[in-house]
Formats: sequence, C-alpha cells, structure tokens
Amino acid sequence: MIKIAPSVLSCDFSKMGEEVARMDACGADFIHIDVMDGHFVPNITFGAPVVKCIRKCTDKVFDCHLMISDPLKYAEDFAKAGADIINFHIESDSPTEETIDKILSLGCKAGLTVKPKTPVEEVYPYLDKLSMVLIMTVEPGFGGQKFMSDMMGKVSALRAEAESRGLELDIQVDGGISPETAPVVIEAGANVLVAGSAVFGAENPAEMIATLRG
Ligand code: DX5
Ligand code: ZN
Repeated sequence: MIKIAPSVLSCDFSKMGEEVARMDACGADFIHIDVMDGHFVPNITFGAPVVKCIRKCTDKVFDCHLMISDPLKYAEDFAKAGADIINFHIESDSPTEETIDKILSLGCKAGLTVKPKTPVEEVYPYLDKLSMVLIMTVEPGFGGQKFMSDMMGKVSALRAEAESRGLELDIQVDGGISPETAPVVIEAGANVLVAGSAVFGAENPAEMIATLRG
C-alpha cells in the first residue's frame, strides 16, 4: 500500500495546526515534519514545542524527519511532543545504534535517513530495528528542489535487501515528488512518498494526494 506524507515545510506556518488538520481531511497517511537546526543543514525550521502544539490537531502518524546534528540529545523531546516515527540522518554526529535504541526505548518507531551522496548499504546493519528508511531524492534543507532520479538504484537495492531478509520495511523518498516522479519511485520500490510543494501548492490537495498514490 502506498502512503502519502505531506511535508509541513511547505505549509503556511502562521496556521500550522489548521494546515495539518486539512491534510488529515485530504487523506494524508503520515504528516511529515521537517526539523532543521541550521547546523546539520543550512536552514532552520522549528523544534519539539511546535510539534507538541500541532499534535492536538490530528491523530495521523507524525513522521518526524530530524535534520539535526545531535538527534540522540533531542529524541526524548520529540517523543514527548507526540512523534510516532523518529527519523534521523546516518550522517549526523550521534552514534547510530545508540540513537535507534533510544528512540525504541521511548516507544517510538525508528527511521534512518541517507543523504544523496551516502551509499544505502550503510543502513543495512540496522535494518532489523528500523520501521522505515528514508532515501533523500534532494539534498536536505529546502523544499521545491529538483528530483534526483539517480537515487532509484538505492531504492531498488534496499527493497531487494529487505525482501531477501523477509522484512516489511517502509521505504520513504523525500524531495521533488510530483505526479511525474511518483510512478518512478513506486516502480523502484518506495512505498512512502513525502510531498511538500506538490501537495500544498495544489489547488485541490485531496486530488493531488490521490494522484500521487497512483
Ligand atoms: C527537504 C525536506 C523535504 C521537503 C520536500 O529537506 O526534507 O521534506 O519538504 O519538499 P518538496 O516536496 O517540495 O521537494
Ligand atoms: Zn523531509
């Protein structure tokens, strides 16, 4: 089943709660929450207190994509704020295994993300503990960038690896997802599609979500 995760990075931050509720009503599966610290990536968004506020506006799965240097230090804040999945970068400064174990001990699902230049094989040692792997299809930091089709080899290799191990892994892609690129990522083996500008920029977001789902 294909899941669509609208990224709040593209929403109107002056009414974030309403925007999240609107995505819920439009058929979103996950709410994708982009946290940036201005250090791991050259942009700053918001932190756990904001996540806690918008938690009141929907029961949908909160998929927190932490683009921060020290996810181990902040995992507990996001868990307490209501994150369901805590997804962090393997390129961050935190020890990978320890951070995954911390997230799981907090009662959340753990996800691991790879930037475009990072080989997907780097996540293989941790697959048994992960519910999701996010393969970035743009450099993290900003919405509205161009989709990198050369990431599809990583998606299909990861899908084959998960299948060979009998794992029901969610494979997420993030960056440049549109009606044109969605079929490409699904064909490669992705099943969770993040979409920021495509959904929030659409005249009819519900229709866009349905189109992306295919
Ligand atoms: C980029 C973020 C994405 C971003 C995607 O660093 O992780 O979630 O919002 O935006 P679009 O869909 O516009 O490429
Ligand atoms: Zn993201």
